[in-house]
Amino acid sequence: MTASDVQHAVTGYWTARAPKFDGVASHVAQSALWQEVLEAAFAAKQPLDVVDLGTGTGACALVAAALGHRVRAYDGAEGMLAVARAAAKAQGLAVDFIAETLQDAAIAPGSADIVTLRNVLWTLEQPMAALRKACDILRPGGRVVVSDGLWSVAPQYRSTYPADIAARLPLHDGLTEDKARQMLDEAGFGPATSWQHLFLAPPYPGDVPMFVLSAMRP
Ligand SMILES: C[S@@+](CC[C@H](N)C(=O)[O-])C[C@H]1O[C@@H](n2cnc3c(N)ncnc32)[C@H](O)[C@@H]1O
Repeated sequence: MTASDVQHAVTGYWTARAPKFDGVASHVAQSALWQEVLEAAFAAKQPLDVVDLGTGTGACALVAAALGHRVRAYDGAEGMLAVARAAAKAQGLAVDFIAETLQDAAIAPGSADIVTLRNVLWTLEQPMAALRKACDILRPGGRVVVSDGLWSVAPQYRSTYPADIAARLPLHDGLTEDKARQMLDEAGFGPATSWQHLFLAPPYPGDVPMFVLSAMRP
């Protein structure tokens, strides 16, 4: 199976899930809490250029736009983007949604102040390449904000990818904060700061260990 076959299966999975995704995603129900956490992690003093990679239905991108930032948001699954575009319209927010995988998207190097990747690393065949691309997209002094969790501890959060697809994804079980810190370091970022303590209660029912980390491109 080629990398393109794997991506095709992943993209098809998310397009099929798109119509019901916002109904089950706890981060949508908790968008006000996420807004507080992301606002702190962005540490912005003025409107910034934000790139959201693997935006899905745009939950993160919409929060960034609501905070007054200029947002470009990429996803391979057109079905997810259709939901995202409708949500942006309903909320009166301007987000540039682009239907491209993060590996294929031609994003100008040094064109962003913030790059977000929320719950995306676990579903990539090449998660390190995604972090290196995030570093490349950022201006020096810009920050990546990464959030994910150890999804294997809670069956309700597991994907139903076919076994041969899941086997191609090195982080399909999810990842810990320590692992994410190592990866950020390896990708060339400075020391990471964690933000998940700002949630008053665990954001995912089932007490999934999760993290929100930011790290600066030197
Ligand atoms: C679990 S959803 C997370 C969506 C969103 N970031 C959020 O926090 O709600 C994972 C998303 O990653 C997207 N995705 C998977 N592989 C991708 C890739 N290589 N490039 C861009 N998006 C990708 C999927 O289409 C899906 O929308």
